[in-house]
Amino acid sequence: MSVVSKYVSLKNYIPIGLPKETDFEIKSKEISINDEKNILVSNSWISVDPYMRARMTERKNYKPPFKIGEEMEGYAIGKVELSNDKDFSVGDLVFSSLGMRDKFICSSDELKKLKPIDMPIQSYLGPLGMTGHTAYIGLFKHGELKSGQTILVSSAGGSVGSTVCQIAKNLGCKVIASTGSDEKVDWLKNELKVDHAFNYKKVKNLILHFKEICPDGFDLYFDNVGGDFLESAIFQMKTYGRIVICGRISQMNATNPGSGLKNMAYVLVKRLTIKGFLIFDHDNEREPFETEMSKWLADGKIKFKETIYEGIENAPKSFIDLLNGKNIGKMLVKI
Ligand SMILES: NC(=O)c1ccc[n+]([C@@H]2O[C@H](COP(=O)([O-])OP(=O)(O)OC[C@H]3O[C@@H](n4cnc5c(N)ncnc54)[C@H](OP(=O)(O)O)[C@@H]3O)[C@@H](O)[C@H]2O)c1
Repeated sequence: MSVVSKYVSLKNYIPIGLPKETDFEIKSKEISINDEKNILVSNSWISVDPYMRARMTERKNYKPPFKIGEEMEGYAIGKVELSNDKDFSVGDLVFSSLGMRDKFICSSDELKKLKPIDMPIQSYLGPLGMTGHTAYIGLFKHGELKSGQTILVSSAGGSVGSTVCQIAKNLGCKVIASTGSDEKVDWLKNELKVDHAFNYKKVKNLILHFKEICPDGFDLYFDNVGGDFLESAIFQMKTYGRIVICGRISQMNATNPGSGLKNMAYVLVKRLTIKGFLIFDHDNEREPFETEMSKWLADGKIKFKETIYEGIENAPKSFIDLLNGKNIGKMLVKI
């Protein structure tokens, strides 16, 4: 039996600038299980993530470029529809890297079976998934955050950032949150109870703003954006402060490479530690993250929001809107 799979494919590489909907195409093809790929899965939820932008260029990165005209990839949650594999049955909930399409065939080593949970299943793409894990590992393993410290978080209204803010608050830290809309500022202040939130798009001089709102300085800066924001934060770090480089979204679509950090002297004088990390290196370190995050979620100590677009046809728009800051919390496509 064959079925039709609809998928998102990239029409051309996008070396610089913001992607446009015309850079993508929704295609379809017939698929049927065979001896090698003996499981058919229907995706229910597709994760939309900034790192995908790096795969839309031919530049060398930690993951290869998407292949033009073929299925794009990404994390997804789906349900087994047909199976000739002894380890998977019809109805099993599964996680895969075969997102950006509605249906696919695969072998068992491309799937991970998911345990049913007392919360929406797409949480495995959010707080219990890569974004929650990134927040946890970034804060504790690389940021060495301790109770009572002061932390600055950029892109704080997004998926990783909002989780970082709440973990830090749970630990008894002072949290300063930056985001790009007043609606996200309100959410961060009123629901997530950060100590201070601001709309960076309304701030004329970030260096002066940091001095004003946090005169004693930051122990840790959790950097999701890079660029000028990172440079400004360096001025307000405490001596021996730490900066965790999680992302560089302000640079991803930049049309020129910028001039680099002009204040490296402060890194020296303040004896700062600046550390980048990739969550893919920590796939074998799911504990204690999973246990702690499940408990925080059950106790209401971590709340999460989702921005949901419906249908595979809207996946390109969801990605462009993510880059434009239209999401609050995790950006997802529901199939
Ligand atoms: N190191 C790792 O292994 C790892 C893993 C996952 C994610 N990340 C990184 O973590 C960051 C957050 O990821 P996420 O999935 O949680 O995405 P997200 O924060 O939910 O969404 C992206 C956000 O970036 C902000 N943004 C876009 N352009 C910007 C600009 N020029 N300056 C400042 N902010 C801008 C927008 O929010 P505003 O409204 O605030 O502008 C947008 O909502 C990204 O940089 C991502 O690449 C790293």
